This record gives sequence, structure tokens and C-alpha cells, in this order.
Amino acid sequence: KIKVLIDCDTGIDDIVALSYALKTDRLEVLGVTTVCGNLPVDITTYNTLNALELMGRTEIPLAKGAATPLERPLWDAAYIHGSNGLGGYEFAHKTEKQPEPQPAHEFIYSVLMAQPEPITIIALAPLTNIALLLKQHPDALTKIQRIVFMGGSLRTGNPTPVATFNVLADPEAAKYVIATKVPFVMCSLDCTRGSFLTYDDLDKVAALHNPVADMVRTVTGFYIQTTKAENTVDGQKKGIDIHDLCTVMYVTHPELFEGEHYFADVETKGELTTGFTLVDFENNLKKPPEDKTVLFLKKVNREKYVEYFLEVLARYGA
Ligand code: BDR
Ligand code: CA
Repeated sequence: KIKVLIDCDTGIDDIVALSYALKTDRLEVLGVTTVCGNLPVDITTYNTLNALELMGRTEIPLAKGAATPLERPLWDAAYIHGSNGLGGYEFAHKTEKQPEPQPAHEFIYSVLMAQPEPITIIALAPLTNIALLLKQHPDALTKIQRIVFMGGSLRTGNPTPVATFNVLADPEAAKYVIATKVPFVMCSLDCTRGSFLTYDDLDKVAALHNPVADMVRTVTGFYIQTTKAENTVDGQKKGIDIHDLCTVMYVTHPELFEGEHYFADVETKGELTTGFTLVDFENNLKKPPEDKTVLFLKKVNREKYVEYFLEVLARYGA
């Protein structure tokens, strides 16, 4: 099993990603942390605690993280995820589980330092917690195998034409983390947009009839509406991109992905381009190999990805 920590801002695609991450037999989830992003951190924490309950994994510790980005006010994504972050979906049974006493970055530090080998951090949200960790505890770098991050793009964006949400929401954090040269996997929007679930796939989710699959079907029903503009290609409806799920899938099934190493940086001061991820795709900057620390994922095998997701979701029962 691959040991991981998951940082998230639950969020519709985050909760779908968690439904997979917490049930696949390929991951050992050492802890989950929350951050502000899609919604304020109190809401993302409530959603994540209750997700652990719904998915039967309350033994996994959760720590609550940053309430604001490093240097800016929060730019949330309630317009995509709804005001409760889950498109109005309500948990039938509210959990008693409480967050750990430490803030997320201190929690991550203590988990990392207690591990004999470096481990993978899966970051499905703005990188505020991870930047705080590396600013306050630079020695944590030796204990991080890699950060697998949902975000970045070569030539597309959401919600601006060039910036992806998880970078735009805290560009200073993303810039800081990448500049540490920690091994960094960018599960780019270019890649996740090829990982869509079709409406047929969603019918297969609905046919599973277990509480987790029912939740997935409900929240994605809302998401279909709010991401309408992104769902249409050449006038054809294609389905929905569950960006965070795609990112977790890379950790369990890297063979489904194509990617390459590049030098990358983040624009933090652009008049039109704040949050843009500069990826030196054509080697214009002639950086040495040791500076090409970002593995940029370009493509995923969609059919297999969907198959593996449905297989794991079915394990929640009938
Ligand atoms: C990313 O932004 C958030 O709204 C989603 O949860 C995902 O992590 C997609 O750009
Ligand atoms: Ca997210």
C-alpha cells in the first residue's frame, strides 16, 4: 500500500475523490487535512469529517487547516459547489468526530516525522497548508516523497482563462511550494478535462445503490448544472470533470497517465494572469535537469479510470 496524507477543501469533486481514496486497497491514508478553498474552512472541515463517517473511516485522524490564503482574502468556489460545498446534499447521520487539536500543517509535520520513509501528500486544494508546513518546518522536505497536486495548466483555466482554481486561490502558496524543489506532480486541468464521467457513467453510479454511490450521484447532479459551460465540446454534452478524483487515480494507477518533467513557476503579480502556472514546455529557459522538478500530467486513459472508480465505489455494498 502507498502511504498518503490527503489535503482537501471538500467540495464536490473532493468528496468523490475521497470516496475512492478511502476504499481502494492501494492506499493507506495516514491522515486528512482541510483548508479554505471551495468554501471557508469550517464548511470544508464539516464536510470532510462527515465524509469520513459516511465512508466508515472515522479512525483516520483529521486536522483543520488555514482559514485564509497566505496573503489574500479567500476567493471561494461556491458558485460551482453550492453554499454548503456539496450542492445542498445533507448527511443523514451527523458525525461526532472532532478534528485533532493541532492545526493541519503541524499535524502533517508530526505524521511525516514519525514515518521511517518519505511519503506522498495528495493536495486537492489551494496549497496554503503545505506552504505553511514548508515555511515553518523546512526539514519536512526530507520526509515528503512527492506532492501530487490538482491544479496547473498549460493553456486553459478555471475560473480565469489562464489560472486554475487551486493555484489562483493561493498563488503565493503554490509559488513557494514549487520553489522548494520538492518533487511535485501537477495533475493539470489539461489532463483532468480528459477524465470526464459521461452521463452513462453516472447512471452506472446510480445503479450501485449504496449510500456512498447515492451521495456521489446526488452531488454530481448539482455539479452538472454549475459546470455546464465546461461540459460542452463542439456543442455536444460530454459529462463532468471530477478533477480531484483524477489526481488520486494518478497515485493508485500511474500507468494510466502520460506526463513529463518541466521547470515550472507561478505568476503572482500579473494584471491578467495571476495564478497562471508557467510550465517551460519548450525548454526556452534552458534550465538544468535538477530544476525540472514538476511532473506535468497531460493525459489519462479515461475508460480505465472510470472502470477502476466504479469498481471501488461498488465495494461500499449494494
Ligand atoms: C479544483 O478546484 C476546486 O474547485 C475543485 O475542488 C478542484 O480541486 C478544480 O480546478
Ligand atoms: Ca478540491
